[in-house]
Amino acid sequence: MGYEGIVEEIKSRVDIVEIVSEYLNLKKTGENFKALCPFHSEKTPSFVISPSKQIFHCFGCGAGGDVFSFLMRYENISFQDAVKLLAERTGIELKFRKDDTEKQGRRQVLLEIHRAAAEYFHQLLWDRKEPLDYLIRRGLTRETIREFFLGYAPGGGDVLFRYLTDKGFSRDDILAAGVCKKGESMVMDTFRNRIIFPIFNIRGDVIAFGGRIFREGSMAPKYLNSPETTIFRKSYELYGLYHAKREINKKGYVILTEGYLDVIACSQAGIRNVVAPLGTALTEHQLRKLKPLTRKVLLLFDSDDAGIKATMKAFSMVYAQGMLGKVVLLPEGDDPDSYIKQKGTEAFRRLIGNAMGLVDFYLATSRSGEVETVGELIRIISKVDDGVMRAKLVKDIAEKTSLAEVFIREELTRHRRGMLDSGGTLNISSHAMGVEEMLLSLLLNHPEYIEEVRKEVVPEQIENERLRRIFLKLLNSDSGDIISRIDEEEKAYISRILLDTGFDEEELDKNVKDCIKRLRERGLRKRLREIQEEIRIAAEKSDRELLTLLQKKWTELVKEGQQSGIL
Ligand code: UTP
Ligand code: MN
Repeated sequence: MGYEGIVEEIKSRVDIVEIVSEYLNLKKTGENFKALCPFHSEKTPSFVISPSKQIFHCFGCGAGGDVFSFLMRYENISFQDAVKLLAERTGIELKFRKDDTEKQGRRQVLLEIHRAAAEYFHQLLWDRKEPLDYLIRRGLTRETIREFFLGYAPGGGDVLFRYLTDKGFSRDDILAAGVCKKGESMVMDTFRNRIIFPIFNIRGDVIAFGGRIFREGSMAPKYLNSPETTIFRKSYELYGLYHAKREINKKGYVILTEGYLDVIACSQAGIRNVVAPLGTALTEHQLRKLKPLTRKVLLLFDSDDAGIKATMKAFSMVYAQGMLGKVVLLPEGDDPDSYIKQKGTEAFRRLIGNAMGLVDFYLATSRSGEVETVGELIRIISKVDDGVMRAKLVKDIAEKTSLAEVFIREELTRHRRGMLDSGGTLNISSHAMGVEEMLLSLLLNHPEYIEEVRKEVVPEQIENERLRRIFLKLLNSDSGDIISRIDEEEKAYISRILLDTGFDEEELDKNVKDCIKRLRERGLRKRLREIQEEIRIAAEKSDRELLTLLQKKWTELVKEGQQSGIL
């Protein structure tokens, strides 16, 4: 069994609750457990353990993770030691030690091969007029070439292979590194007669190469990348990350662009917090790699149709990761490299300074109508776990469209429950209980509204039974302090509601009124539907008297609704 296999096996056999309960005094709250957080000092527990998800999270200090993370932190031990500890407990034998060292050794060799190849390519470039001139003609300085360690891979077939063999590397290792490949009758260099862009991992080791042609009219693909190897997974790496990481930290955000030369051109222009995926669409793994450095991402993609699509996809992933996104649209046909060259660094900086947020971007570029566009936005926002962030985005949509905040919230709630069909169109006419939860949340946080709501809303208007029970208890209290009078299940429910929403304090009045109006509208429509049904039956039975009565009732209700602005 490999190391990853063992980790999975352990996870499947241990229960995080059981482990954590050896250290902490746990209290069950609904489906989760709570405890006083061991990682910061607190008087009321905000440390939550979820048995269903097998994770913990402290809402006080933000600590969180799986059972390994807990042990690492609590015992102050390494991941390996946490694995060892749990393996012993669960009786899994750790036979991976030898394998593991072998694997480490192999990895080292592949890194050495890459270092040797990168140095070789780099040295060659300074002596080769054609590729060097090409780079200089494209505006790169010698300093930039040195910094990104650009190189030249010679033609000829197996020049690098012979060089590396002479240095003592084995054929198998060279092939495993991906810098050479097996041909029909011989081993060939992977990159031949190309400008080389070494790809560094975050620690600064060269782990792969990109190679660009430099002669016009060549039929070969413009760029080639190293194949996937044990040290290079394309979807996990970002070009320029090693060079950018300090600046990302300093500036507090990262710029994501598309190409190698875009990263380099930005960097040369003094904008150094820039990275790019490696010729594929952005992936979740790449975002996860950025997350410890910053949560803010500026997307700088082409503004053609493909670029806008890529930006939308990227936005969606950024928000699903709990990160924040902004976007800069370049003039169509431009990439950062060409823009800087034509308009200069200052113009480029100004462009970046005017980045658009998610909502603006969608409203500006979407070809669908407002309702569909908002539907798409809601789909993205529904993936955001942070309630405050969601609330801000909802507010942003409400401000910039003709849709009321309460509608957007309701749709969002429906989405988050997975109640929408996969088509996910915004359906304003169907009512979920989003509005009920919202009202409850408002009242729990702001009991001063209980009086007003008591006058306007009758409990029967709350359709969800559990919510109605809580609602009733709330209406019978003046302080809103009902925690002592509800059961554990209701508490857990309430705590989620409380955690889930972040109302804008200045909009409270409006939100309460919207909720009341919404509930009344719903109640009224329900009664109208009932009357309609009764009218149909009365008509079937030809009951004239009843028919007249019902029609009168119908007219009254409609009038009432219109007068109070509900219908
Ligand atoms: P672009 O075609 O936009 O190239 O591809 P570029 O980066 O602007 O480079 P120049 O300015 O033409 O020299 C963007 C990225 O897509 C990948 C590369 O990672 C490139 O940087 N790509 C492109 C490939 O992997 N293969 C290709 O054939 C083309
Ligand atoms: Mn380009």
